[in-house]
Amino acid sequence: MQGACLQAPRAVLARMGGMTTTLALFDDPPRQEREPLGPGAFVLPGFALPFVDELLPAIRAVEARAPFRHLVTPGGFTMSVALTNCGALGWTSDRRGYRYSPFDPDSGLPWPAMPEPLALLAREAAAKAGFDGFAPDACLVNRYAPGARLSLHQDKDEHDYGAPIVSVSLGMPAVFLFGGLARGDKTVRVPLVHGDVVVWGGEDRLRYHGVLPLKEAPHPLLGAQRINLTFRKAG
Ligand code: SIN
Ligand code: FE2
Repeated sequence: MQGACLQAPRAVLARMGGMTTTLALFDDPPRQEREPLGPGAFVLPGFALPFVDELLPAIRAVEARAPFRHLVTPGGFTMSVALTNCGALGWTSDRRGYRYSPFDPDSGLPWPAMPEPLALLAREAAAKAGFDGFAPDACLVNRYAPGARLSLHQDKDEHDYGAPIVSVSLGMPAVFLFGGLARGDKTVRVPLVHGDVVVWGGEDRLRYHGVLPLKEAPHPLLGAQRINLTFRKAG
């Protein structure tokens, strides 16, 4: 936990409670355990920090079997974010369209299984946001280098909109944009740091969201990158 404290002092200290003298060292007020973005959408600051030591080797093992790649959209654009997947289903894109598939198109092999520490974090974060019994079958692993961005989109390729999306931020900070149910709705800017989790489901499940171009601010554990995990019930 010591290492984690160095990377996200506000989030960690806020969870320790009672440490008012230490908290007073920081300018920002302590973040709440659950910050609402909507009736079914929450930021859980620092929720993933206790899991990080197990997440990072698990992600490296996934990456060794299914390397990150820059997908091409149906419109012919190459995405700035690099992607891989784990779980029974993985999300891919090419000139023919977007889809979930049990197979990695690069290797022809099934995607690596979802490592248990990832599945556990997803379940616990969903429960914390009020979605009990979340059983994701897909985890998209997105890697952002400085300058990479994700334009506003809805996560709507999944069959089951009854299940939430659970999104875990690791490494460099990012600004997450959270909009409404129509593309043109106003967006709020949500700063996310290493260990933060965002969950959106229920009536917020189809809200538009994206990520602003990443600033270069190397992270002590992950260097000049941000890794985002999004857990979904896709099938
Ligand atoms: C996504 O929308 O799939 C990823 C969001 C993020 O990187 O925070
Ligand atoms: Fe998304």
